[in-house]
Amino acid sequence: MRHLTELPAWNALWQHFEQTKNVHMRDLFAEDPNRAERYWLEVGGIMLDYSKNRITDETLALLMDLAREAGLPERIKQMFHGDKINPTEHRAVLHVALRNRTNAPIKVDGEDVMPKVNAVLERMGRFAHAVRGGEWLGYTNQVITDVVNIGIGGSDLGPLMMCSALKPFGHPRLRMHFVSNIDGMQLKETLKKVHPETTLFVVASKTFTTQETLTNALTARAWFLKYANSEADVAKHFVAVSTNQKAVAAFGINPANMFEFWDWVGGRYSLWSAIGLPIMLYLGEENFIEMLNGAHLMDQHFKNAPLEQNMPVLLAMIGIWYINFYGGGSHIIAPYDQYLHRLPAFIQQLDMESNGKQVTLDGQAVAHETAPIIWGETGINGQHAFFQLLHQGTHITPIDLIASLEKRSNLPGHHEILLANVFAQAEAFMRGKTAAEVRTELAAQGLPESEIEALVPHKVFVGNRPSNLLLLSRLDPRNMGSLIALYEHKIFVQGVVWGINSFDQWGVELGKQLAKTILAELTGDTPPQAHDSSTARLVQLYRQTNCE
Ligand code: F6P
Repeated sequence: MRHLTELPAWNALWQHFEQTKNVHMRDLFAEDPNRAERYWLEVGGIMLDYSKNRITDETLALLMDLAREAGLPERIKQMFHGDKINPTEHRAVLHVALRNRTNAPIKVDGEDVMPKVNAVLERMGRFAHAVRGGEWLGYTNQVITDVVNIGIGGSDLGPLMMCSALKPFGHPRLRMHFVSNIDGMQLKETLKKVHPETTLFVVASKTFTTQETLTNALTARAWFLKYANSEADVAKHFVAVSTNQKAVAAFGINPANMFEFWDWVGGRYSLWSAIGLPIMLYLGEENFIEMLNGAHLMDQHFKNAPLEQNMPVLLAMIGIWYINFYGGGSHIIAPYDQYLHRLPAFIQQLDMESNGKQVTLDGQAVAHETAPIIWGETGINGQHAFFQLLHQGTHITPIDLIASLEKRSNLPGHHEILLANVFAQAEAFMRGKTAAEVRTELAAQGLPESEIEALVPHKVFVGNRPSNLLLLSRLDPRNMGSLIALYEHKIFVQGVVWGINSFDQWGVELGKQLAKTILAELTGDTPPQAHDSSTARLVQLYRQTNCE
């Protein structure tokens, strides 16, 4: 297997980087009046303006060469075909099957997975109709008013992000709550807001072994049983979503109340599966299907469009340009939309848990950077906080600015101010402000020459800071489906080029193992084990404070 750094395009890109690294985007725009038009792509209701990147046609051509040399077209085929492209867990990676709206067969181990995908989708639909329509009743025959999803990571962030993003489509009677933290205060605060007779708990865990989720679910169950007439009432208020039927039954949830998914759905890619049950409960079956349709649209585009006009591929390869050549170690997700406030957290897990890897598929240490650090915040709030560093700090920090074109709130002036800020930020990142411009501005204010000269270095913006602008024609289920599928595929492409496995997550295991050992020490079940002096001291401090 040839490694990335041995590929001809990799070396060609290094040469190209040396030749072009100081070119300013301002000049690229000046040289090409059609740049904005040429570096623009639309897929369904998603528009991408990638013109404000430090790229030329040659950069893009070389990046696409790299993608080809890394075997991307073949890997895309393998994923859609159901091949076991997650070798460390011997699994196929088939979130695309969950939204395969054509129903064309996709086989894993010779079995078409589509019938079972559709069967679960239908069961979810029936259940959602019953809850939303007021036919599913609690133990005192009252309709459900509150849904509490108990899950963590991929079993929390996807449904939470989608329900927040699509709040205007939510059922007016249903209030959605998400409990992920083992800090008991989150559950306690949630339980204060809900009533046992009208609350449905969705216990969501792919493995059904996650300590945080099972502990929260047991506590919620104990709380419920304080009010219920009998254990039998649990069936009306607790459902499970999992791949692990045995563990669900052992936990005390009737498998009849379990919605299934499969090991070929990664946790962080699972919102399209039964893990999306809270989304369907809140938005309804039609809107959930619309979300799947939007994702399917992006899947088809990803599968069929030439690499040069392929939105996930472009985003991925432009990302690689910064990460591997400019040394840009972080990437910002900045939605200009309050409803998208959990999108940065969602993309953070999606990207960093997938591509935060240091060995290639054949177990060799990588010779290059992999996933960037993903962080972010709603853009408008970020502007009044960390954007200073983006404009004048010393790092290269590519940013995805995300906004909806359609005005939703009818509060006069708000949407215009919001969009004026997105467009202005993108322009400022690109153009910057030269010393000459600063001098002219300060002179117009009548400042004396000496003060102008003292201020100039502080007021100069170097610019040349890359951004992608992703515009949604409208924030709706279909476009959200397309947007999330876009990021999923972008991350896949980067993983393929880096030659890593994007679909396992061994890196989260060590902390879990150690926490188990330490937990037994904190509770006094086992005597303190051999630890480093810092950890031993912390364990001792806890015991002194809470147990002695
Ligand atoms: O600890 C990481 C992780 O395994 C994630 O990959 C996953 O999304 C999350 O925990 C929750 O896992 P589960 O759905 O099995 O409870």
